[in-house]
Amino acid sequence: DAAPSVLPSLLICDFGDLRTEVARLAEAGTKVLHLDVMDGHFVPNLSYGMPIVEGLRRHTDLPLDVHLMISDPLKYARPMVEAGADMLTFHVEAVEDAAHTARELKQLGVGVGVALNPDTPLTELEPCLDDVDMVLVMSVNAGFGGQSFNPVALDKLKLLRQRHPDLLLEIDGGINAETIGPARAAGCDLFVVGSGIFRADDYGVAIAELDGLIAA
Ligand code: DX5
Ligand code: ZN
Repeated sequence: DAAPSVLPSLLICDFGDLRTEVARLAEAGTKVLHLDVMDGHFVPNLSYGMPIVEGLRRHTDLPLDVHLMISDPLKYARPMVEAGADMLTFHVEAVEDAAHTARELKQLGVGVGVALNPDTPLTELEPCLDDVDMVLVMSVNAGFGGQSFNPVALDKLKLLRQRHPDLLLEIDGGINAETIGPARAAGCDLFVVGSGIFRADDYGVAIAELDGLIAA
């Protein structure tokens, strides 16, 4: 459902003890986990792939929202679904034919999202908007956690919300207590948060504060 929600991003976290990280997040009231998959090619950083998704799947029933920052999303889509992904988001910059990519992903029986970086205009999304469940508006350049928020994302959210009242909108990058309210006001539904949670001592306190700022 589209109740506004904070999604922890597993990128800046303790990869040596993911089981405990997930337990702490679940206890803190997390409803969906956001997983950042990077291939060292579409973005200049390398994170993780199917084995981590599959390992997380064995330790949680939470939906897994997989953000594919990779050059060839269709190549890895089926293995990602088999590993336990519930939602697959590809980058519009990575593919030649976004509508085709979205339709192929849909065939796998998962939710489909399309992401765009701050410098990519909304017009790039037009061909595929009828074939996706969600748009992920990046408020930093995909690739690294801990970057600062680019307000161009707010204008994109406002326009998407005006034109598509029922489309699920997600924002990712530099979301914290200062930026989450404006993103909510711009019409966003899902708020990905990395450093804003994982640099806090108590994930529950950090999530509750952010939740309070987007509550209807
Ligand atoms: C960036 C990733 C984000 C990242 C967000 O490429 O897609 O999900 O983890 O981290 P923060 O909240 O620290 O900007
Ligand atoms: Zn992400």
